[in-house]
Amino acid sequence: MAAKFYIGEVLENEEIQEDCFLMKIKTAPSFQNPLPGQFVMIRIAGLADPFLSRPVSIYSFTRNENYCSIELLYRVVGKGTQIMAGLIEGSMVEINGPLGNGFDTQSAKENIVIISGGIGIAPLSMLTETLRRTHPSSNMIIYKGFQSVSEVVGLEKLQKLCRNIRVCTDDGTLGEKGFVTQVFQKDLKKFSQEFTSIYACGPAPMLKALATILNKTKFRCQVSLEERMACGVGACMGCAVAIKDKDGALSYRRVCADGPVFNLQDIIWE
Ligand SMILES: Cc1cc2nc3c(=O)[nH]c(=O)nc-3n(C[C@H](O)[C@H](O)[C@H](O)COP(=O)(O)OP(=O)(O)OC[C@H]3O[C@@H](n4cnc5c(N)ncnc54)[C@H](O)[C@@H]3O)c2cc1C
Ligand code: FES
Repeated sequence: MAAKFYIGEVLENEEIQEDCFLMKIKTAPSFQNPLPGQFVMIRIAGLADPFLSRPVSIYSFTRNENYCSIELLYRVVGKGTQIMAGLIEGSMVEINGPLGNGFDTQSAKENIVIISGGIGIAPLSMLTETLRRTHPSSNMIIYKGFQSVSEVVGLEKLQKLCRNIRVCTDDGTLGEKGFVTQVFQKDLKKFSQEFTSIYACGPAPMLKALATILNKTKFRCQVSLEERMACGVGACMGCAVAIKDKDGALSYRRVCADGPVFNLQDIIWE
């Protein structure tokens, strides 16, 4: 995959929820329009450590004549995201992107189901925006799960795009109590397998639970995986996942270059 490196300037980097930040970056107008589900590898410009480049989904993207503006919604979990959180207005970053395949929106059917766990809301927000534009007459429902009310982010933006959102928390502090996959499963019979497209992103246990629910059905479900990455551009195999190929045989795919979006039914969970 050709590297697409850009220098970006941080315009804003606001802590919108404890340990969760919204970063706005200005970059060159030559940055390609991203598909929903694509991501950037981001690192601090000039930082000596070459391994401190981190994958973050594109949360929103706009352009004008002079520059492109990229928003990243990220949670601080370790060294790389901690460094990102410390960036102030005017800091310079290196971004490589847009990377990955992104969600296929062209095949979306008349019923659209979006299932999101935690920070998985980041790529799914851009997906929701895109589907609203490309499939305005589709029925859309979003299942949005968080661990607790203190972790809720990005909900207001989604509420402007979709009237039908089922919010749940693991501890019951907001919306229904339970895992987002359980709440979705209760509704499963309402959806026609033929006329429904499902999209999901969230932690691996959530996606694994979704696979258990959907693998015996004919629902088509695309999921974005958030594996740990090293190079981010297909060179190291550090992000490989086991997939069933067309003949049902096991093969390995790189999340960064072949994904991060895969058909849920193709993934082999350990
Ligand atoms: C395609 C893609 C898109 C992503 N989009 C976003 C996004 O929009 N917003 C966001 O907040 N995060 C996103 N992530 C996850 C993000 O890349 C990781 O949280 C980040 O790389 C962690 O770096 P760190 O140096 O802060 O943590 P590390 O110091 O590397 O790790 C800290 C802790 O987090 C765990 N961890 C690290 N990376 C992951 C991971 N990918 N999955 C599960 N656990 C992990 C480690 O095991 C460790 O326990 C995305 C990941 C991928 C692959
Ligand atoms: S992270 Fe190196 S191949 Fe994907």
